[in-house]
Amino acid sequence: MNSKVDVLLGLQWGDEGKGKIVDVLTPQYDIIARFQGGPNAGHTLEFNNIKHVLHTIPSGIFHPTKVNVVGNGVVIDPIIFKKEIDALEKMGVDVKKNLVISRKAHLILPTHCALDGASEADKGKKKIGSTLKGIGPTYMDKTGRNGLRVGDIESEEFGSKYASLKAKHEGLLAPYNFEYDVSEKEITWFDGIKKIKELTLIDSEHFLNRNLSSGKRILAEGAQGSLLDIDFGSYPFVTSSNTVAAGACTGLGVAPNKIGDVIGIFKAYCTRVGSGPFPTELFDETGEKLRKEGHEFGATTGRPRRCGWIDLPALKYAIMVNGVTMLNMTKADVLSIFDEIKVCTHYKYKGEIIDYLPYDINDSEIEPVYDRLPGWKEDLTQLSSEEEFPPELIDYIDYLEKALGTPITVVSVGPDRSQTILRTEVPA
Ligand code: GDP
Ligand code: IMO
Ligand code: MG
Repeated sequence: MNSKVDVLLGLQWGDEGKGKIVDVLTPQYDIIARFQGGPNAGHTLEFNNIKHVLHTIPSGIFHPTKVNVVGNGVVIDPIIFKKEIDALEKMGVDVKKNLVISRKAHLILPTHCALDGASEADKGKKKIGSTLKGIGPTYMDKTGRNGLRVGDIESEEFGSKYASLKAKHEGLLAPYNFEYDVSEKEITWFDGIKKIKELTLIDSEHFLNRNLSSGKRILAEGAQGSLLDIDFGSYPFVTSSNTVAAGACTGLGVAPNKIGDVIGIFKAYCTRVGSGPFPTELFDETGEKLRKEGHEFGATTGRPRRCGWIDLPALKYAIMVNGVTMLNMTKADVLSIFDEIKVCTHYKYKGEIIDYLPYDINDSEIEPVYDRLPGWKEDLTQLSSEEEFPPELIDYIDYLEKALGTPITVVSVGPDRSQTILRTEVPA
């Protein structure tokens, strides 16, 4: 019996709560697979009073009978990867049993991080606001056909391949007035490589397709968000991979006709870290309240996240490019502090009212047009079923479902695994 790959991904600018929801949905799957991005991601999980942030490892790792796959589309920094594994092993997670890595995943070198830093410093005010984890330079080497891959560590020539790529990077760094020293980092980097060697390396496309043929259920876990996609995001203020559903095909080696449901996660409002356009961003006290109430500080860099109201034209765009079949809304509890909730339905752009995301929102003024809905002013964090929802929350959900033409199947009302309300049957 053949089965399909469901894809779960962020519909905004990242940090929608993907880690939490993947952890909640994992019992319904056999395999959880990351398909793109790298340690720029920070996916937070909370259960039994433990809070844990994952960067490269899929968010199904705390379920001992599930297999977690780092797919070919992911980029791995061995230093961060080893730290993640060490922390999990300390918590008693049998990482060696539950984690497998694609040989085709690319490696982030210490000099990739230096190049990221140099490029951002050089851009000055126009910087992307990168997490500086070497993501852009590593994907550049991948598409430029210079990259080092996980499979290379099995080759006797690995040392020389590393040295020649490092030398290439040193050449690229020379014209920048950028100080860097990778000598100490290199030692930990090679320690990380040793750690990766202890794990099971696979050809993930064969592994996953074989498992699909035998009826195993697979959930692909996205990183970042659709508005940070290299093709469809607010370029150039984006990341360097395809964060949209199509990325699951190329990042895992599964064909488009093997994709089942596409689960789109969105926050009940909006946040963004780093530079780039954000039409509904709030610079006032309301924005500050959202940041405070939502603890909106980056899970990877600790940077304060920019906050604003929900943006329906942007969400509709993300739903379209991903083929989203069901929506999950997170952080509804954060909106409990407001008497009134605003929803951006249109933009005022170049003298017109439009309901779509135009090509150039980087340099042109774009002004959100809002609808207003009454707030529920009620603590949601202790709720355990949909029947307990305040009527204003039901109205908010109905409003969004109608506007977005897609059902909201999960409502998250707090960071903990248990604070999750499944509204209808989730994909089996
Ligand atoms: P991800 O990158 O999409 O996995 O999201 P992050 O982990 O970067 O950011 C989401 C943050 O919100 C984390 O701190 C989560 O613990 C937290 N979170 C997730 N869902 C909820 C929710 O429904 N309510 C609240 N208050 N916090 C949530
Ligand atoms: P998760 O998976 C939020 C942002 C950075 C920057 C831009 C480019 O936790 O949702 P990069 O390091 O990729 O060169 O940065 O993308 N960014 C994220 N923002 N969540 C993330 O991941 C992000 N990963 C990258 O802040 O604006
Ligand atoms: Mg995050």
